[in-house]
Amino acid sequence: MNPDVLRRSYDRFAHRYDADFRAQQQPKIEALLAALPVPVPTPWLDVGAGTGLVARLSGGRPINLDLSAGMLGHAPPPRVQADAHRLPFPDATFRCVTAVTALIDLVDPTPALAELVRVLRPGGWLAISVLVREQPARFVDALAGLPVTPARRLALDRDAGLVMRRTPVDGDPPM
Ligand SMILES: C[S@@+](CC[C@H](N)C(=O)[O-])C[C@H]1O[C@@H](n2cnc3c(N)ncnc32)[C@H](O)[C@@H]1O
Repeated sequence: MNPDVLRRSYDRFAHRYDADFRAQQQPKIEALLAALPVPVPTPWLDVGAGTGLVARLSGGRPINLDLSAGMLGHAPPPRVQADAHRLPFPDATFRCVTAVTALIDLVDPTPALAELVRVLRPGGWLAISVLVREQPARFVDALAGLPVTPARRLALDRDAGLVMRRTPVDGDPPM
């Protein structure tokens, strides 16, 4: 879907997102967080953060990044409005990147996944969930071409959860 159309539809929907979807998202978020170190390593970026359910349920303080200003208006700070395909951060910034039911309607998930991996430090954690209807195998195939090592795979009701570590590669900054 065109990102402007997606953004506008989430802007319109933001005021009732928690009432309609918190019950569905909470178990997924808790299961994904349980596969990460405690506390979640920081700096931490939550991509497609929406209303900030991941931040609020974790008790942590990720940077909440989303296309939709309407959704972000309900999220705790810090908040950044941006597209997952063009993250406004230098390479190797974060020790953890999460994206829960956020990579949606992508013809090819590779560019967005490459961008999430780009901003991860070597050894950093990547934890994403993908709706089963988005065909998680496409995401697994795309990740196979990126410098990540699979750590866990989780069945999360309507989503598949994928947890990975950023693999160190030549030219990386020191960990
Ligand atoms: C189903 S909601 C999930 C929100 C939150 N992660 C949760 O679990 O409650 C999807 C969110 O992803 C955001 N999103 C979708 N595509 C995005 C993109 N390319 N870049 C940034 N945010 C995106 C939407 O604006 C929306 O807020």
